[in-house]
Amino acid sequence: MHDHPHYSPGLEGIVAGRTSLSDVRSDVDKLIYRGYDASELGHRGEFEETAHLLLLGRLPSLAELDKFKRDLHTARSLEQPILNLIRALPDQMHPMDALRTALSATAGWDPDVEDNSREANIRKAIRLLAKAPLVLGALAAKSAKRAMPEARSDLNHAGNLLLQLTGKVPDSDDVAVMNLSLVLYAEHGYNASTFTARVCASTLSDLHSSITGAIGTLKGPLHGGANEAAMTMLEEVGEVDKAEPWVMDALRQKKKIMGFGHRVYKQCDSRAVSLREAGRKLAEKRGDTRFADIADAIEAVMKREKNLFPNVDFPCAWVYRLLGIPVPMYTPIFAASRISGWAAHVIEQFENNRLIRPDAEYIGPLGLEYEPPR
Ligand SMILES: CC(C)(COP(=O)(O)OP(=O)(O)OC[C@H]1O[C@@H](n2cnc3c(N)ncnc32)[C@H](O)[C@@H]1OP(=O)(O)O)[C@@H](O)C(=O)NCCC(=O)NCCS
Repeated sequence: MHDHPHYSPGLEGIVAGRTSLSDVRSDVDKLIYRGYDASELGHRGEFEETAHLLLLGRLPSLAELDKFKRDLHTARSLEQPILNLIRALPDQMHPMDALRTALSATAGWDPDVEDNSREANIRKAIRLLAKAPLVLGALAAKSAKRAMPEARSDLNHAGNLLLQLTGKVPDSDDVAVMNLSLVLYAEHGYNASTFTARVCASTLSDLHSSITGAIGTLKGPLHGGANEAAMTMLEEVGEVDKAEPWVMDALRQKKKIMGFGHRVYKQCDSRAVSLREAGRKLAEKRGDTRFADIADAIEAVMKREKNLFPNVDFPCAWVYRLLGIPVPMYTPIFAASRISGWAAHVIEQFENNRLIRPDAEYIGPLGLEYEPPR
């Protein structure tokens, strides 16, 4: 075996590109989107502002925000064949797979599908952002055997998503927490799904293909799938007193605790801190702190035993549960938000494209002679 000087398993520490979209400031473990603190954007602004910032390069003026919201609302519809496709998918298909399939299929009706100009990609990104909650709404309605709600122009993006997921008009506190989670999920540098999107775009493929690949990559439990896995764990633990023995047993078995640790953050994930605080307030207002309490107990054991901290997927799990959202929808919500970051990266990739094609170190046999099958 040859030791290649540039080889790094998992590409850890390798700079694979340049971006002006986001960064984790390592001195403070703070996430910034184009220079703005992501948590502040989530607490004080709407998801639409963050999506505008990522896609168009700056925060919108009031008039620009109004137009962006109108464009999103105009795009809030699914063609009848897409609705038929969603209905035809097997009931047991994971919503993440259904989202990947349905959004990919919308390419067939998108007038800009082959146009890779910046303007066309912004239009396509707005359509994909608008349609993703509707795909989830169609799936939720199908599974609950109820009608799919009409999109509402008096609700913002987070409100429309909640409406689709629960079938009910959400209250403003619920919308605010969902909005925060969407902003915190919107963008995160060269993570695995974004890298997938950029690799795809680097071949001069198109936005729908990049997003489809990214959704598939996000699904894994080491990436976006962790929020669902974390909720399954919280349900399994069931009560605060069982948290300590449950975690100790899992660690003894060398199991990974879902929703903990991170490749980039080393001290804490500031997104998790923001969402935990907002979620705790909502839980107290609701008088339902059961899972927030179990989560705190698990966090204390993880800190003591492994010095590991929760990432954003951990509070997302119990916050979404509090909002009445079915567990299989958690990772698709992450995807519905991250479309903004993925699309912004695709636009950035096209602006200065070079085919992404790394080398691999060959460690297989040499010099074998072909013999025909005998
Ligand atoms: C996110 C993650 C994939 C980062 O992985 P990574 O940078 O490759 O780090 P590693 O998996 O090599 O972990 C380094 C060490 O911490 C431990 N560790 C990391 N995350 C852990 C977790 N969630 N539970 C228990 N131990 C963990 C590893 O076992 C390893 O210990 P070791 O050196 O004794 O073998 C990893 O922390 C993880 O699997 N977390 C759970 C899944 C998750 O929440 N993903 C969402 C990320 S936003």
